[in-house]
Order: sequence, then structure tokens, then C-alpha cells
Amino acid sequence: MSALKQGHGQWSSRMGFMLAAVGSAVGLGNIWKFPYMVGQSGGAAFVAVYLICIAMIGLPIIVAEWMIGRRGQKNPINTMADLAAANGRSKGWVMVGVSGTLAGFLILSFYSVIGGWALSYLIDAMSGGFTGMDKDAAGAAFSGMLGDPGSLTIWHTAFMALTAGVVAMGVAGGLERASKILMPALGVLLALMVGYGAASDGFGRALEYLFAPDFSKLTGEVVLAALGHAFFTLSLGMGVMIAYGSYLGEKVDLLRAARTVAIMDTVIALGAGLAIFPIVFANGLDPAAGPGLIFVTLPLVFGKITGGVILAGMFFLLLTFAALTSAISLLEPSVELLQERTPLGRVGATLLASAVIWALGIAALLSFNVWSDVLIFGNNIFDLLDKLTSKFLLPLTALGAVLFVGWCLDRDSVRDELNLSSGGFALWNLVVRFVAPIGVLVVFVSSL
Ligand code: PHE
Repeated sequence: MSALKQGHGQWSSRMGFMLAAVGSAVGLGNIWKFPYMVGQSGGAAFVAVYLICIAMIGLPIIVAEWMIGRRGQKNPINTMADLAAANGRSKGWVMVGVSGTLAGFLILSFYSVIGGWALSYLIDAMSGGFTGMDKDAAGAAFSGMLGDPGSLTIWHTAFMALTAGVVAMGVAGGLERASKILMPALGVLLALMVGYGAASDGFGRALEYLFAPDFSKLTGEVVLAALGHAFFTLSLGMGVMIAYGSYLGEKVDLLRAARTVAIMDTVIALGAGLAIFPIVFANGLDPAAGPGLIFVTLPLVFGKITGGVILAGMFFLLLTFAALTSAISLLEPSVELLQERTPLGRVGATLLASAVIWALGIAALLSFNVWSDVLIFGNNIFDLLDKLTSKFLLPLTALGAVLFVGWCLDRDSVRDELNLSSGGFALWNLVVRFVAPIGVLVVFVSSL
């Protein structure tokens, strides 16, 4: 690939890389989606299956994606092309890089719209906008926001600008630096909120809800939802972890690092549950309220309890931080690609990629209002983007990545890289060759 430019960035430290990877993994998926999925899927049984999926399927795929990235040291597309050639495999493997980069690109367009909701609620929260809200007012505020293309555009634009601002500053100076500030702050905010929850009446019920499984609630659908979410929450299948691996030096122990990311991600998702459900139970709200759970039910409570303004501000700040460190990771594969394949520098590449993603996001946000009647294959644009990525691109990218590592890379080099005993390596092979690919295939096929 002679078109490639030199001067590939690197993380400045292991710690910085870890925080950026955790920052990518911890996002709206943990704080917005996980609690409402638990609520809709009947509580602890879902959590139990989710934990198994993280360990058996998520963890090996993180390692596989990082390993690919670190060996290639380029954007996901060139990396796959180089590795396929070096291992004497078909050029077709490049599709793993293509679908991953495309997935990240498409997901960011609507992720940024939701990031914009978080920003908008943050400003409302801090200005005391929830005070005295009743049930109808809270619902009306949320649907009012969705119905107003002008304000959705402003917030989406603001969120995208923040994201681009960080990414333009580079790998160590932007992504890593932002994660080093935002992630610890997020940890502190979440701990404070769990502390508040622990002191409230609803805490016992929240604990029971999250940790005492009733396996009679377990259906095929619940298992699939858990597996699909394990993927999303670990940022797998979108080129993100391949790109993050490409800035990684030889010294980092991939298995250990992946374990840390998986544990942190899970702890934060459970922490979000422990922050949100006590409030839900103590106030007689419905835990199965769905996507509106944090945007409709929580403001209602924040508006009537003492200290609600502060608590609400903290919560939506937390949500915004989590969304931002994930959004920057979604932008990175596209920027890395443009930077390496075109004459554009870092700033130009960031501007170009974000402008196109922004425009697509506008189409997505219009589907809540003016374009709500525009249906493609029966879906509005927002849902179409969501389904296309989560049902097709993510599973196919992740499947490709794990199969490539399991079957195409030289076995001895993988064993050395992971520093495994022969027993450990046998287990690793079993997981990456069979368990994880079959798990992914099952989700893929049954979601069709
Ligand atoms: N893992 C993020 C979350 O849980 C979402 C995300 C997916 C971020 C893919 C980056 C890449 O919200």
C-alpha cells in the first residue's frame, strides 16, 4: 500500500490506552440501554446471561480485534489487507475492515443524536428545568424534544462538534487525554449516585432486581438480547478496537487488558443499575418503561426530591461524558482511514468525516418528526441505521475478526503473543475457533 503515509500515532502509556478503551466501552449502552434492557427482560436472569456472554464471547473478540490492530498498525481496512496477504489468505478478508469502519461511521450518526439528548437534558437539569414536573409534563418534555427538528439539530451539532474537537487533537493529545479526565470523573459521579441510591428505600429491591435471578423469565429472546448487548457494550464489530489496537505497542498484555476492560464495563453498567433502580422503586415507577426510562422517568423524580437539581445535573453530566468517550472512538476508524489514504492531515480528515456523519445524523433526527413517514423497508431512517448496523455489520465484522484470528493467523505467534501455557492455549483455541463464532452466528441468524 504505497499510498500510506508514515507517522502513525501511538498511545503514550498503558494506562492511557486502558482508559480510552474503557471510555469507548462505557457509553450510552451502559447507562441508558443496559438498565432499560434489564427492566424489559425481567431483571437478574438477563444479567446472568449477559455476564456469561461477556466472558465467553465478548472477551475473546476484544483480544482478537486488538491483536489484528496491533499487528497491522494501520487503519482497519489496510490492516486486514496486509494481514491477509502476509498470511497467504484471500483478499476477501479486507471486508472485515470495510464493514467495521462503515459500521462505526453509521452508528456515530445516530449515536450523536442521542448524545445530543444527553446534552440537552444536562442543560435543562442544571437550570432546574425539572422542578415540579408531573408525569405528563415529563412525557411531554421528551416527546416535545423529539418533535422539534430545530433543537434536535442544535444539540446533535453541538455533540458532534465536541466529538470532532477531541478527535482532531490526535490519539495521545485528544482521545487519550480526554479519557484520562472524563473517565475518572465519571467514576466519581457514578459512585456518588450509587451512594444516594444506597441510602434510599428502594436499594434493597434494586439489589434483588439485579442479582436474584428468576430463570423462568429466561426466553430465547432474552438470551439473544443479552448476547447482542454484550457486543455493543464492548464496542465490538465496528473497527473501533481494531483502530485502538493499531496504536498499541508490543508490551501490553492483551488478555489482561481485555479482562480489565470487560470488568470495568460491567461494573459501570451494574453501577448504573444500582444508581437508577433504587430511584425507580422508591418512587413507584415502572422499571420496564423502555428507552424513555432515563429521559422520562428520572427527570420526574429529580424534579421532586431534595437535592434533585444537583443529582440530575450529576446524572446527565455522567451520561454526556460516557457518550462522548464512546463517540470519539466511533469516529477514529474513519479518521485513521482518511488520514492514511488521502493527503488530508488529522484535522482535515476529522472535519471531513464528521461533516458527512453529521449530515447523516440530520436525516436520522428528522425521522422523529418531519420525516416520520419516510419509511425504507418499513423502517424510519433512525431505525434503519440502527438495524443495519446492529443486525448485519456488527456481527459480520466481529465474526470475521474472530475467525481470522482463530483460523488464519500463525498459531505459534498467537500463542507467544498471548503468553499462554499449552492448556490455556487449547482453551483459547476452542473459544476463538468455535464458541465465540458459533455464539455470534446464532445471534446473527436468529435476528434475521
Ligand atoms: N460501547 C458503547 C456503549 O456501550 C457504544 C459503542 C459502540 C461505542 C461501538 C463505540 C463503538 O455505549
